[in-house]
Amino acid sequence: MRVIECPSQDQAADLVATEILEALHHKPGLVLGLATGSTPIGVYERLVRARREGRADFSRVRTFNLDEYIGLPADHPQSYRRFMREHLFDGVGIPAHHVHFPPTEGKDLLSACRAYEQAIRAAGGIDIQILGIGSNGHIGFNEPTSSLASRTRVKTLTDKTLADNARFYAPGEQQPQLATTMGVGTILEARRILLQSFGSKKAEAVRQAVEGPVSSFWPASALQLHPDVVFYLDGDSASSLTMREYYRRVRRNELELGSH
Ligand code: GLP
Repeated sequence: MRVIECPSQDQAADLVATEILEALHHKPGLVLGLATGSTPIGVYERLVRARREGRADFSRVRTFNLDEYIGLPADHPQSYRRFMREHLFDGVGIPAHHVHFPPTEGKDLLSACRAYEQAIRAAGGIDIQILGIGSNGHIGFNEPTSSLASRTRVKTLTDKTLADNARFYAPGEQQPQLATTMGVGTILEARRILLQSFGSKKAEAVRQAVEGPVSSFWPASALQLHPDVVFYLDGDSASSLTMREYYRRVRRNELELGSH
């Protein structure tokens, strides 16, 4: 697990975007796992800019989003399908049939969730998974006590997650209580995982994920089992890490050796 404390959120976004653009250069048919929320927006802005400036071609890229709310139409302002269209898909020109979201409609969601997993496998698996983290340690919508071997399925959102996301809904507006999400086991199968976290509200979740025991109570701690995960943090999110100085030293050595 690599921990990179960045001087600013912009610098974290620069690093993650550079990783993706380099990977895309080597593999034009890159398979990306994508996240929503405020955290990845800077990365998406940089990818859109790279496309606009002719530095990147996304026409062969395929994408799989982590999660989506149940009960919101695709064009609802809070739906993740709309978020992704506005922040990335329209700007980089990924063909619509290359874009995938976990199923949220239909009578047989269970089979549809299995088909989503199958679609990921058929695409050759996810090359790079972008992640954020919830203040309760969730990844995707794998809430605390999610099985660390879980697959794509429907989850009930916790009060903490509902409260964290309530700001996006008008007073009196119905907030979705359920979502379909890739499982922790699904996420762990991605070849590389790049997680960003910003702000002091996430500091405890980051500490538990990086330094805590592997526990379904902090689902992001399962990332310790993955061989290629990088945490890109701002100073606030890194503030509770007990080995903070060590991670800084490791980073200085990496830069000096040119190993990353
Ligand atoms: C939601 C998403 C997560 C995301 C989290 C953090 O719950 N399902 O994938 O990581 O929000 O959001 P933000 O980046 O806005 O803090």
